[in-house]
Amino acid sequence: MSHTTYTYEDYQAAVTAIRAVTDRQPEYGLVLGSGLGVLAEQLQDPIAIPYKDIPGWPRSTVHGHSGKLVFGTLEGKSVVCQQGRAHFYEGYTPQQITFPVRVMHFLGVKTLILTNAAGGVNSAYHAGDIMLINDHINMVGMAGNHPLYGANDDRLGPRFPGMAQAYTRKLRTHAKAAAQNARIPMHEGVYVCVSGPSFETPAEIRFLRLIGGDAVGMSTVHEAIVARHMGMAVLAFSAITNAGIDHVDSETDANHEEVLEAGRVIVPKLSAVVRGVLRTV
Ligand code: HPA
Repeated sequence: MSHTTYTYEDYQAAVTAIRAVTDRQPEYGLVLGSGLGVLAEQLQDPIAIPYKDIPGWPRSTVHGHSGKLVFGTLEGKSVVCQQGRAHFYEGYTPQQITFPVRVMHFLGVKTLILTNAAGGVNSAYHAGDIMLINDHINMVGMAGNHPLYGANDDRLGPRFPGMAQAYTRKLRTHAKAAAQNARIPMHEGVYVCVSGPSFETPAEIRFLRLIGGDAVGMSTVHEAIVARHMGMAVLAFSAITNAGIDHVDSETDANHEEVLEAGRVIVPKLSAVVRGVLRTV
């Protein structure tokens, strides 16, 4: 695979294009996963910029991902929201997928809030649940497709960043308090990133369970790694849109429609927790 690499100037060109539209200085970045984009409609005083107007910005081809960067206010905090994201399985490199995270950093974002649709690996998880991510297993990155592959630009971060606290403890504490206050049950667990786009086989679900995974999806960890590389704080949630199928005699199979459908049920829960966090930080 060819690895697209960006220069410092590429990030600045994207920032310049955005600055031609707005001079807002968002402190919080929000990335909305499959079926979760409607959360962006809750922003006050929105200013939207289509991804196609930003040089270098990768565009998702997937149904359920609209391609806009939306600036606004949520719970009094200045937020920039990525309504839709690009994925590895669409043919983008991890470097391309994480270009927006770098641009958000240069726009002033200090805290990145990531969301995704995910399959339940933990047998106690059901479609419609939400999970706070407290750690991850990057199957794609461990296999060599890593967002920090290639020359390191020391202006962005260190060559070998630590990941012992990839998901900021203080933010996790805020999220748990917010869920409790809103009386929303929330799991906490380990997100496994796989390439996709095929969903997991039953043997793969049992394997992911064995290695300590609780949820499985095709995004998020690339962005979390790049954000931590630049010293941003990270908070991340999985919307459990379907329970992983763990036996070959199952009558059902996972599909994208059920992912989008469950997203609709989950948006109010995720929105309450994210808003609760923004109120308290
Ligand atoms: N597996 C991987 N990614 C997903 C799933 C799944 O079951 N559901 C939503 N995204």
